[in-house]
Amino acid sequence: MDAWTLEFEGDDPGREGLREALCTLGNGYLATRGAAPEHPAGSEHYPGTYAAGVYNRLRDTVAGETVENESLVNLPNWLPLSFRAQGGPWLGESGVTVLDEWRGLDLRRGVLTRRLRVRDNGGRITAVTQRRFVHLRHEHVCGLQTTLLAENWSGTLTVRSQLDGGVENGGVARYQGLAGQHLTRLTAEPVGAETVLCVVETNQSHVRVAEAARTRVFRAEYQLDGEREVIREAGRIGHEIWLDIAAGEQVTVEKLVTVFTSRDPATSDPAVEAVTRLGWLADFDSLLEEQVLAWQQLWRRFHVWLAGAEGRALPAVRLHLFHLLQTVSDNSVEVDAGVPARGLHGEAYRGHVLWDELFVFPILNLRLPLLSRALLRYRYRRLPWARAAARAAGRAGALYPWQSGSDGREESQQLHLNPLSGRWVPDATWLQRHVGLAVAYNVWQYHQVTEDWEFLTHYGAEMILEVARCFASIAEYDHGRDRYVIRGVMGPDEFHTAYPDSTRPGIDNNAYTNVLVAWVMQRALEVLDMLPADRRAELVETLGIGSAEPQRWQDISHRMYLPIRPDGILDQFEGYGRLAELDWGSYRARYGDIRRLDRILESAGDTPNRYQASKQADVLMLFYLFSADELAELFDRLGYRWDPGTIPKSIEYYLARTSHGSTLSAVVHAWVLARNHRAQALEYFVEALESDLADIQGGTTAEGIHLAAMAGSVDVLQRCFAGVETRGDTLWLNPYWPPQLGTLEFDIQYREHPLRLRITGETIRVAAGPGRRPPIRLRCRGEVALLGPGEAVEFPASVPLRRAAT
Ligand code: BGC
Repeated sequence: MDAWTLEFEGDDPGREGLREALCTLGNGYLATRGAAPEHPAGSEHYPGTYAAGVYNRLRDTVAGETVENESLVNLPNWLPLSFRAQGGPWLGESGVTVLDEWRGLDLRRGVLTRRLRVRDNGGRITAVTQRRFVHLRHEHVCGLQTTLLAENWSGTLTVRSQLDGGVENGGVARYQGLAGQHLTRLTAEPVGAETVLCVVETNQSHVRVAEAARTRVFRAEYQLDGEREVIREAGRIGHEIWLDIAAGEQVTVEKLVTVFTSRDPATSDPAVEAVTRLGWLADFDSLLEEQVLAWQQLWRRFHVWLAGAEGRALPAVRLHLFHLLQTVSDNSVEVDAGVPARGLHGEAYRGHVLWDELFVFPILNLRLPLLSRALLRYRYRRLPWARAAARAAGRAGALYPWQSGSDGREESQQLHLNPLSGRWVPDATWLQRHVGLAVAYNVWQYHQVTEDWEFLTHYGAEMILEVARCFASIAEYDHGRDRYVIRGVMGPDEFHTAYPDSTRPGIDNNAYTNVLVAWVMQRALEVLDMLPADRRAELVETLGIGSAEPQRWQDISHRMYLPIRPDGILDQFEGYGRLAELDWGSYRARYGDIRRLDRILESAGDTPNRYQASKQADVLMLFYLFSADELAELFDRLGYRWDPGTIPKSIEYYLARTSHGSTLSAVVHAWVLARNHRAQALEYFVEALESDLADIQGGTTAEGIHLAAMAGSVDVLQRCFAGVETRGDTLWLNPYWPPQLGTLEFDIQYREHPLRLRITGETIRVAAGPGRRPPIRLRCRGEVALLGPGEAVEFPASVPLRRAAT
């Protein structure tokens, strides 16, 4: 990988799925995996296309139970394009040998290029260059341009260009025993001479999807007539085009495609829209120019530059931002969709939205707040389901689901397959109630960065209040302790679903959840206080907030129980420290990679519930979300003694007991180690950067990128190493910059000021762009400065490295 290009040489069947995921092109509205156009889905290739928010539900019987799953739907494949020389075999079929192949993803321009030379069994060699885009500015438009050079043969070149409506969801091996047929085919027909139209409808959610494709052939800039015929094959519609070509000559095939769905705003019939808009398009090259410009503009907003860092840190950071912006972008603003954990790049987690957005918002808030606002509104629109879930559970307020899809009901699977044992195991992850706290946290952070009062007043406050009400009703008063407790939940660590040998699901007093509950109670009180009086009165009336409720929030914010052990370390949950110790060494020796220890233990008839063994950061998430000052304040309010010395002790304790079975773990560990163990922090940072590039979870990237790890790794640079925090009307700079990373420069927007930050081992400099906004307050280790438009300020960055108090 160089600074802006991800490259792949040759063929690597075992890693083709990974390459396809990493080479996905998207624009926040739709995305298409970087699959070879001539191959249908099979054991090696999986050409998925997904549109944000297009889901469908199907039922299955698994292990005697009826289960229902909602999935992001694999839409008709718009890629199919192949050719043959002189009536020989088609590219993609046996009889054609690929002599060499190169694939390059140009991150700067959003273009995937592929070059290959192929020889058919008649000895005819053809050089192929393919370029494609999924247009960033025209979100319904995709393009595939194929240039074919007949190296050593003359005769008839036949080109086949199709749309394939016969696709199903089959991208994840673990789900393959489950239903995957989401589409009913409605129309497959030619429209005019050069265009074909394919219309399908999802069979439960009834989303209609139309794709139209126009194929033209050019020699130099001249369009060739060629002879063509409409071809129909199982689910496919397209054209076959015949041309004469001489040795040494080249022709270019241009396939432009439009995609519309019945969910699109400003659309009547998606088929009409697809055909009409296709008719408006000029050619591939002029669209490409606009594509390049759109990416140039977006990269300006997301400017990051790292000079002098070793290895592939900068390219990886760019790749991560690139995939983030292909999943959510300006084009997502008008779409009713959330932040899917695995991007629009594959079918893992069935395209669901989990808490992962917690790791994504910090990047967006500081660059594209309009997008954050739109994505937070995805949650707002799902308040009715969250309220219904709370009611059904006998609670008040809104209970957000652990996995969310189209309407906001709980989409977590009831059973999951352990591929090691082949057993379907009940899935209790829905007990991760903390997802609602993340929603409230995200609303609050968004407001801290933007001061978007309109959003807070109309949407944000209601979400914070409803989440707080829910947790106020989940928390029970424990007379013995004179504190509030929360029973029967799960923390971010998914390994602990119950106490050993207990039939009751969940664990009690997960420290992470309880601290966030205390925090959200304070925010609910604060938000009520902050609202303009008339809106406060309206909300109190509409939501029926009784006078006793704020009193209970006060109480909980002072009296939430935290499981603190005698040595001051927070127990992950009540009783965690009494569980058996796992013999990590022997498991590592026996199994090598033990990230998914849960699967290993289950297949051996054991369970992680018995051990002090965590999948990912749980208690340590607190040090990721809150500064030491904020935690000190929270503890103080709760009447617990806060000793900052327990932070390094906790890190050490949990690090020794974590298998890192989630890519989120490396992000959080890089973060929490940054203060005291820089070298180790850098190791985890590099691991986070490599999460997908090196597919560190062993095969999962092929099923979709890990969006939170991608965004989170960039956030480690921004908020952790560079130490940029937005709190209390101040931009705090608290850098712990590892000099090994050289110099970092990045741009953010804070309170509508465009800012450029530059951090080295010695200094941190903030320069404000031109504008008319009032100055902002900056604070770096006790020094305060006001920064107005066009001004710059510099602080010393280095502090003596604080050592762990061991
Ligand atoms: C992690 C979750 C995460 C999910 C989706 C799981 O492996 O444990 O915390 O939300 O992946 O990224």
